[in-house]
Amino acid sequence: MAQRSPWWQGATVYQIYVRSWRDSNGDGIGDLAGVCEGLDYLKWLGVDVIWLSPTMPSPNKDWGYDVSDYYGVHPDLGTQDDLDRLIAEGRQHGIAVMLDLVPNHTSSAHPWFIDALTGPPAVFRDYYVWAGPKPDGTAPNNWQSATGAPAWSYDSPSGQFYLHNFLPEQPDLNWWDEKVHAEFERILRYWFDRGVAGFRIDVAHGLYKDAQLRDNPPATATDHPIVQRAGLRPVYSSNRPEVHEVFRRWRQIADSYEPGRALLGETWEFDLERFGDYYGRQAPELQMAFNFLFVESKFQALELAGIVEATLSALPPGATPVWTASNHDVGRFPTRWCHNDERAVRAALVLLATLPGTVVLYYGDELGMTDVDVPVALQLDEMSLARPGTPSRDRGRTPMPWSAEENAGFTSPTARPWLPLGNHSVVNVKCEQEGPESVLSLWRELAALRASGRIGTVEPLERVLLDDHVWAFRVGSATTVVNLSSRPAARDLGPDQALSVLLSTGPQPRSTEISGKVLLEPWEALVAVPLPH
Ligand code: GLC
Ligand code: CA
Repeated sequence: MAQRSPWWQGATVYQIYVRSWRDSNGDGIGDLAGVCEGLDYLKWLGVDVIWLSPTMPSPNKDWGYDVSDYYGVHPDLGTQDDLDRLIAEGRQHGIAVMLDLVPNHTSSAHPWFIDALTGPPAVFRDYYVWAGPKPDGTAPNNWQSATGAPAWSYDSPSGQFYLHNFLPEQPDLNWWDEKVHAEFERILRYWFDRGVAGFRIDVAHGLYKDAQLRDNPPATATDHPIVQRAGLRPVYSSNRPEVHEVFRRWRQIADSYEPGRALLGETWEFDLERFGDYYGRQAPELQMAFNFLFVESKFQALELAGIVEATLSALPPGATPVWTASNHDVGRFPTRWCHNDERAVRAALVLLATLPGTVVLYYGDELGMTDVDVPVALQLDEMSLARPGTPSRDRGRTPMPWSAEENAGFTSPTARPWLPLGNHSVVNVKCEQEGPESVLSLWRELAALRASGRIGTVEPLERVLLDDHVWAFRVGSATTVVNLSSRPAARDLGPDQALSVLLSTGPQPRSTEISGKVLLEPWEALVAVPLPH
């Protein structure tokens, strides 16, 4: 009997930054009831799975990535009933709901940390990472937080420092303590029991830290530019081998449900072999992992193709690759990759949709939504504010444009949206639904091809042609050809490439025959299948 592939394999996942997607009650903040209202749209878009950015109670120092209660729903976003209703209505729409789980750290307002602060005898003291100062009184080691400041804060009553790889209000949990494992296994089961389809795991690479808290070595010229900019290579503060045992255990829990639950890791690891380890080599771990080497690639044929091919060969057999290019941290690909050139945006969407595996769209990607320049006075992301000189993450978190009206249909026309809107006069759902030439219409065509099983399947990728500007590859029977340059290109794909065009972002009409030779406009992307004999 043919095995049906699991629901998350080759799926189209859509990341919803809930505060910014759809506001149901006019307080200027997107909410869970708003997500419910949008389910028909998501279905129409071809979405199989939604991943909601943090939904749990939080003081919002980092907009939910500082959790104060792992068993609740943030009152800004709604109630537990709203979430239950979203899961149930999602199921009726054939859309699974994944939540964001933050196991690397809690909020400093979490009862565990409040207890831990009472001193070494506290019941929850060892849930966190404490260490005494160096003999000269300075922090225990040279680790830096995401803001570039020391990752340690001093607690004078106890004379010890606590570790926080992000803001001081986000103390890191101590995964060397077995009790922390038990807490998170309970949290996983609680949400899986409620019908949550899986979790995106925040800072999945970071849970374990070196037991001896050794200094990180300086970055060198061979490190990824992001590591070079940080100045230190985080070998002792992330991607520790012990983390894999956690994910083996969590996978067993996920697999014990019917249907199986999915784990999708936020895995910042630029070494692709070690990145592949998160899928599990000896035993299964995460079903899916975000590939930041791909996210951070230049939008350039040789570099992208090199990363994609190297990724595919580094993953264990049968693994599901994940392709994504935007999120709430790195911003939107139409700006980062495409410099707001709509032709390049179309090429990127064709690539994302046709690479083998699961695709994760960030809300607005389907519209070609770009980053928004949020004026400093309106910026709310404290992590970016604490690191002057870096662009604010708010640029990629602005409200979803549903229409051209005042406040874009995101919230009531008289409300004040929590972050300002960008220019939504043309880039909005309503206008793009009406325009057959819109980016949204292109995505719909791609979604239909994915649904038909003709593209985006998990078969191996075979290179057809690659040079400085043009990349052509075949997955299953579909060939994708992209011109990643602002110049026209003429290429010969080879003698056995008698193809018929299924879709093109350029002027080639559907069913045009390509007999080996193909002419491409600047940034044109096309998908073609063999001519019927
Ligand atoms: C992840 C999240 C990011 C958050 C950080 C700390 O990187 O994606 O938004 O600030 O973790 O939780
Ligand atoms: Ca609201």
